[in-house]
Amino acid sequence: MILRALITSLLAVGTIVAPPAQAAAADEPIKPIEAAKPKNENKVELGKMLFFDPRLSKSGFISCNSCHNLSMGGSDNLPSSIGHKWHQGPINSPTVLNSSLSLAQFWDGRAKDLKDQAGGPIANPGEMAFSHELAVGVLQSIPQYRARFKQIYSSDKVDIGMATDAIAAFEETLVTPDSRFDKWLKGDKNAINKTELEGYKLFKDAGCTGCHNGPAVGGASFQKMGVLEPYKTQSKAEGRFAVTGKEEDRLFFKVPTLRNVELTYPYFHDGAAATLEDAVNTMGRIQLGRNFTKDENAKIVAFLKTLTGKQPHLTLPILPPSSKDTPKPHPFD
Ligand code: HEC
Ligand code: HEC
Repeated sequence: MILRALITSLLAVGTIVAPPAQAAAADEPIKPIEAAKPKNENKVELGKMLFFDPRLSKSGFISCNSCHNLSMGGSDNLPSSIGHKWHQGPINSPTVLNSSLSLAQFWDGRAKDLKDQAGGPIANPGEMAFSHELAVGVLQSIPQYRARFKQIYSSDKVDIGMATDAIAAFEETLVTPDSRFDKWLKGDKNAINKTELEGYKLFKDAGCTGCHNGPAVGGASFQKMGVLEPYKTQSKAEGRFAVTGKEEDRLFFKVPTLRNVELTYPYFHDGAAATLEDAVNTMGRIQLGRNFTKDENAKIVAFLKTLTGKQPHLTLPILPPSSKDTPKPHPFD
């Protein structure tokens, strides 16, 4: 009897002691990011090469990495991007880190997924200014690329769908697990300090998690920019309205991820907020009607910096040389 009672109580203790860390994470509106498990390493490697290859642009100079610099949090740290012939882009370049976790791609969600997205910039006259036919022509003219495509897609002919599929496979690996905040979520109570924890509590209590939640701390919905007070901006971007044509979608933007937000300044679709302090103040005021004190603002900013995760560990790809048949770049026209 006594032994049985002892075993029962030990088991009971076991069930109570083991899960709390898990249970605590399950109760939080923010979830940890899981490491990527690439299905096809060869495809990921090809996608990485394409991501870094400037020959997919008319100038032969601009690659995906030009505006989504993986040495700088997957962004360009400019208010709006610079494209072909120094063209000033209309909107801030979002990070590609963790973008696989978003419900759709672009600020207005006009691309349904990463594959759908990846064809856009190549043919955009203000970005890479190329065409899909010319990009495919370049890849087709390089024997090492032909061989890699053949190995993965069992086809002698490269097409744009294969290229965007490979880029998307690479982008799916660009997740950033193991931030200090994720360690805290998983039960390491010392992973963040008192100020950062207070910042997190403020972030939740003020209502930021109503929109910034889930593993990406965003990316899960379209929301109005300027819920309680109109957002003043020079930008002509209309948000979701541009996709749906519905008046009620005007100025609704995809809620950006706040993962690695410390690295992805400046902020907002117009890149108008230079610092996190700025962005947090504006959000508090126009989304929630809160005027944070300096001290509250500093705590929220300290919390946001705990969301910086392990950056993708990359070896710079060495790209195969062009052949005599490769179309020549046109950097200045
Ligand atoms: C000239 C700069 C530039 C280049 C080059 C560029 N991008 Fe972008 N990218 C942007 C901008 C700006 C946006 C936001 C556009 C919008 O939302 O309307 C964006 C959006 C994205 C997004 C969506 C992210 C999100 O959170 O919505 C992904 C993914 C992406 N680009 C991947 C790529 C890939 C892959 C390439 C190469 C094939 C590429 N980009 C080339 C500037 C660039
Ligand atoms: C009603 C939904 C909503 C609430 C509540 C909200 N946000 Fe946002 N947040 C957004 C949207 C939408 C954007 C993008 C707006 C834009 O650029 O037009 C954004 C952008 C941001 C950005 C800039 C990210 C980037 O990469 O550009 C930060 C930082 C941010 N929010 C922090 C906060 C904080 C802190 C709070 C709480 C005080 C908060 N947000 C509350 C919807 C919300």
